[in-house]
Amino acid sequence: MIIISTIHEMQAYVQVARKSGASIGLVPTMGYLHTGHGALMERAKNDNQRVIVSIFVNPLQFGPNEDLDRYPRDLPGDERFCSERGVDVVFAPTVTEMYGADGALTRIHVATLGEHLCGAASPGHFDGVATVVAKLFHIIQPERAYFGQKDFQQLSIVRRMVGDLSIPVDIVAVDTVREADGLAKSSRNAYLTPEQRKLAPRLREALLRLQAAWSRGERDVPAMLAEERAQLEAVPEFRVDYLTCVDSDRLQPVNTPAPGQSVVFALAVFLGKTRLIDNLIVQ
Ligand code: PAF
Repeated sequence: MIIISTIHEMQAYVQVARKSGASIGLVPTMGYLHTGHGALMERAKNDNQRVIVSIFVNPLQFGPNEDLDRYPRDLPGDERFCSERGVDVVFAPTVTEMYGADGALTRIHVATLGEHLCGAASPGHFDGVATVVAKLFHIIQPERAYFGQKDFQQLSIVRRMVGDLSIPVDIVAVDTVREADGLAKSSRNAYLTPEQRKLAPRLREALLRLQAAWSRGERDVPAMLAEERAQLEAVPEFRVDYLTCVDSDRLQPVNTPAPGQSVVFALAVFLGKTRLIDNLIVQ
């Protein structure tokens, strides 16, 4: 496995790989890798001749009061993780390498899709995500790029950006990987205290109850959400940022679903300072 930290070297590698006819799968990450990322790598390995994992904690997607400095980092551990999974290249540039000494002035803004859910709490977050992902696509020119379904809003925005800008890359969605008790794998789980960790599976349980209610034919979405919100808020350690139901295309809130409409129940909840997200798509 090769470790590359400059854009120039990364582009040179890609040129050689392309000349040899090898297909490239990209797994973009911010590091502190876990088995959720491992599932993306495994899928990329199946589909492509070369797998490149980018590890870059992207400052553009953190707000001024968010956890950029606190974000967990472990590059040597991540490199081992990638090497054990047969990754060909880890691309781990510094912030100056990615954005220059005076920072980048360009941003990519995908309208509408980024305004609700996680975008409401962190304006500019998805501009930062879209900008770095577009930049990685330009540098690496992968045939395919792999994203987790847990961040379904990010996935929708990246898909839309790729379509709108005709970027020739297939976006592959991979199912959320979970702990045995149902908690979605996330680098942020590392922040949870043992007490918070015990409570965290209740987020998934709330989504499963919504799914069950939906399967029983309940369609009074505001009442369903209010009931689950009250249950979550009864736990003093939880602060619900959002618990909502949106349509799966434009991510707009749904109160009265149309017959046959596919929707996503999604939540973001703070446990102390740690914000966890999860979602469940119902057809
Ligand atoms: O999902 C993430 O880890 C990040 O948002 C991504 C896609 C790597 C962009 O920085």
